[in-house]
Amino acid sequence: MKKIIHLNSEWKFSPSFKTEFIKRDFNDFEFETISIPHTNKQLPYNCFDEKVYQFTSCYRKTFFADADLKNNRFFIDFDGVMSCVKVFVNENFAGEHKGGYTAFSFEITDFIFYGKENVICLEVDSSERKEVPPFGGSIDYLTYGGVYRDVFLRVTDSALIKNVFIRTSNVLDENKKLNIQLQIESSECFDVKLEFELSDINGAVIRNSSQTVKLNSGINGFFFCIDNLQNIKLWDVDFPNLYFVKINLVNNKIVEDSVIERIGFRQAEFTAQGFFLNGKRITIRGLNRHQSFPYAGYAMPKRIQRHDAEILKNELGINFVRTSHYPQSVHFLDACDELGLLVFEEMPGWNYIGDEEWQDNACTALAEMILKDRNHPSIILWGTRINESDDNDIFYKRTVEIARTLDGSRQTGGVRCIANSKLLEDVYTMNDFVFGLKQNSIWNMKDETAFLRRQKEVTGLETYVPYLVTEFGGHMYPVKIFDQEERLIEQALLHMFVHNTAALSETICGTVGWCAFDYNTHYEFGSGDRICYHGVMDMFRLPKYAAFFYKSQMPPEKNTVLEPLTRWTVGERGGGGVSPLIICTNCEAVGLKTGGKDYGMFYPAKETFPGLEHPPVIIENIKADWGGSWRDAEFTGFINGKAVITVKRAAAPVPSQLYLKADDEVLSASEADCTRCVIKLLDQYGAEMHFAYDVVTLEIDGACEIIGKKIFALTGGRSCFWIKTVFTKTEIKIKASIGTLVSETITVSVE
Ligand code: GAL
Repeated sequence: MKKIIHLNSEWKFSPSFKTEFIKRDFNDFEFETISIPHTNKQLPYNCFDEKVYQFTSCYRKTFFADADLKNNRFFIDFDGVMSCVKVFVNENFAGEHKGGYTAFSFEITDFIFYGKENVICLEVDSSERKEVPPFGGSIDYLTYGGVYRDVFLRVTDSALIKNVFIRTSNVLDENKKLNIQLQIESSECFDVKLEFELSDINGAVIRNSSQTVKLNSGINGFFFCIDNLQNIKLWDVDFPNLYFVKINLVNNKIVEDSVIERIGFRQAEFTAQGFFLNGKRITIRGLNRHQSFPYAGYAMPKRIQRHDAEILKNELGINFVRTSHYPQSVHFLDACDELGLLVFEEMPGWNYIGDEEWQDNACTALAEMILKDRNHPSIILWGTRINESDDNDIFYKRTVEIARTLDGSRQTGGVRCIANSKLLEDVYTMNDFVFGLKQNSIWNMKDETAFLRRQKEVTGLETYVPYLVTEFGGHMYPVKIFDQEERLIEQALLHMFVHNTAALSETICGTVGWCAFDYNTHYEFGSGDRICYHGVMDMFRLPKYAAFFYKSQMPPEKNTVLEPLTRWTVGERGGGGVSPLIICTNCEAVGLKTGGKDYGMFYPAKETFPGLEHPPVIIENIKADWGGSWRDAEFTGFINGKAVITVKRAAAPVPSQLYLKADDEVLSASEADCTRCVIKLLDQYGAEMHFAYDVVTLEIDGACEIIGKKIFALTGGRSCFWIKTVFTKTEIKIKASIGTLVSETITVSVE
């Protein structure tokens, strides 16, 4: 029976590589002991040279192979190493992988020493090798370095199941169907029984079946069908119902291999008349996600990957994410499946297409992505073009063909920013940056084409085709939380207007904003400090005003939202005052009182934003005299005539609370687990003080590592750090202080 052993702990790391490190008896005593996920270089938050992580490093690890495993096969599985790696086992070369965004595996059976320690040695090249996508040209993001995703040792019997692909069909009928495609790799010829079991998420079995098959030595392909499945619940964005399919390979009553895939029954279709999920039209409201984090780069574990999906779905309330511009972590995708967050996953690359070797590597990465991820119900579209590259019919016919061969059940898209590009895919996916700051004030834009171009003008085609806007915003509105509030408001308005326009369009499936989170980037991009401030949230995943727009589109039953986009002060905006005051809310009405004056009730701006589920409330003419008396404000949100939420803003805010909170109270000691800790300086009404830059000192008790710093300055009144567990059960206590202002002590148990 197969055994999967996590190989994430107790690696030895050296930031350089020499061939002598491959030797079994090399003494790596002086190497640093690390755990995976690992970044080859902890980086500052910003203002650094991106060359600092572009070097070759060495990772070594020993493991013991029991003598009684002699008849088994051994594999080493990597979820992702940035960006090229050569793997050696007991001094033998086991294989090389190029490209940091996809999983790969090498069989190492022939190199194993039984009843002894075995030595794995990795030569990891994190430079930007021009034959490997996304490299070759310039790229607007950093790729970091190291063994940044999980590693496993897999011990199997002689025959094993691979490449399972489960397609659902007849999904909208009462009787649904499963089509199961798989391969069995065997070193001998014999008969085996394949058992299938479909169960619901709680393990209740829905259907069992089995079949005997003949195996030849080598790779055997099989196809099975299970139909007449009844009472199956569909997977969708509100009810992401999941099922398990278990496949056992049974030889002489012994289960030699077993694979469990989690699936969902759903039908997703981009059409010229919009996007349909299970036959129902929904407007896509999405954001792009980069998988990077401050300090650690890409090297964040399962919990943090999952947390990003939770932020997107539950905090921002979006229904769609594009994994720009590469395949992302299985943990992120698993969470998307569970949360009902639709995913557009795309092949790695950025604007540049290289030579033949490069294109071969790109095609390999695309195939690896699809083979690994095609059972995720959340994925509804494959990106088969290099983001924003020029047309290249030969190359893109090849990539589309790969996607259609490996997965005929999903449509393809290819993200471009050029008009009249040849449509080789199923969906014309377009980055539309027509609306930029250089144009007039956002308020003067009455013409809907100011925000999004018309489909036919872009495609140059005579008929409408499935059409999705995969980016907007971005470098048109870089925004920092400590920017002047008008700038933050404009970014929020841009997102509102674009989504509003898309929702009203008959021929646009939806829009995906650039982007969810700020990200570190190369010097050719961003604000010169190696950050693109394009996110609706910052790199810590803390909201800017535009995030409140997304949040406000959620149903109030899920989260009542009332966010005035203002610091409520007389002198922050050019010319002073706070009008027009935009309030992102999903309430039906908002009341404003200030200084004893009742301004009355204000209602969502339906005329300006007819396409939005919850248009913002806009209040004009709030009196604010320069040097005149300025008073506290009280905003009250009403639903069905009842006050449901109240938000106060201080006229004279003073630092009152140093807020410190960990996202999780319990972490695991059996892996390199992690949680984010958020720190904010708040005023007397709990509003963030965005112009505070005080120095915070942390006091930490209990065994853990900090990703971030122990003494740091607030950035726009806020900051974050991550606690990482060190395979030790403990209770971590943390307290933060700014002089005499001390936070509460938070406790995180590591169990
Ligand atoms: C797009 C590109 C993104 C990002 C964005 C900034 O052209 O696809 O990766 O660079 O611009 O606005």
